[in-house]
Amino acid sequence: MSNPLIKITNIKRDFVLGNEIVYVLKGIDLEINKGEYVALMGPSGSGKSTLMNLLGCLDTPTSGTYILNGKDVSKMKDDELAEIRNKEIGFVFQTFNLLPRTTALDNVALPMIYAGYSKSERSARAAEVLTQVNLEDRMDHQPNQLSGGQRQRVAIARALVNKPSIILADEPTGNLDTKTSDEIMKLFNDIHANGNTVILVTHEEEIAAYAHRIIRLRDGMVESDIKK
Ligand SMILES: Nc1ncnc2c1ncn2[C@@H]1O[C@H](COP(=O)(O)OP(=O)(O)OP(=O)(O)O)[C@@H](O)[C@H]1O
Ligand SMILES: [Mg+2]
Repeated sequence: MSNPLIKITNIKRDFVLGNEIVYVLKGIDLEINKGEYVALMGPSGSGKSTLMNLLGCLDTPTSGTYILNGKDVSKMKDDELAEIRNKEIGFVFQTFNLLPRTTALDNVALPMIYAGYSKSERSARAAEVLTQVNLEDRMDHQPNQLSGGQRQRVAIARALVNKPSIILADEPTGNLDTKTSDEIMKLFNDIHANGNTVILVTHEEEIAAYAHRIIRLRDGMVESDIKK
């Protein structure tokens, strides 16, 4: 069918460290369609987070092209990238990255400030997404008044608030116990079922089993790419 949501061609990313150049991504080609559910796996240091940062427009490649939703983002400036990121991408991190001393409602509403919504629109939408992740009775709680699983739900609600086209999650269950991980993965299943494209990094085969496609990186290259 039509154009892929994500099309990266011969993406390389290296970092200059003193006199040395560290070659991290060594030429990656990937197409991901709208509505896919992808797990990104591979050994520590293989380049998963580096690739996620590029996919999420938090970083730009050293060379190669990245077409996101028909737009070439590989050569965009920081302010253009920030705009794309805010509109198209929801990020979920292993360590939740919530603002302390800030309620769940305000944490979730935050990305809407940059998108230019009014205070009442922001609160209404944040309440709606918090309800979607079953936290309607915790909206006024601050992160330190929530469990790990609840904090991750707040982070997921924040990722969803601007209705992005892609949800990127870098080891979203890495800090959670097995039972809580399963609950969070059920939530990602729902998000995917609602039509979102989901890409998540995990070290655990049981977590990757939720996805419909598993891409394995090794040493900065795609080692295998298997669709169920
Ligand atoms: N800013 C940077 N400067 C120099 N080297 C970097 C930088 N960012 C990442 N690297 C190197 O790139 C390699 C890949 O890092 P990356 O974080 O992408 O791995 P990963 O696959 O996510 O690993 P993990 O499973 O441990 O999270 C590592 O060797 C790392 O040291
Ligand atoms: Mg990583």
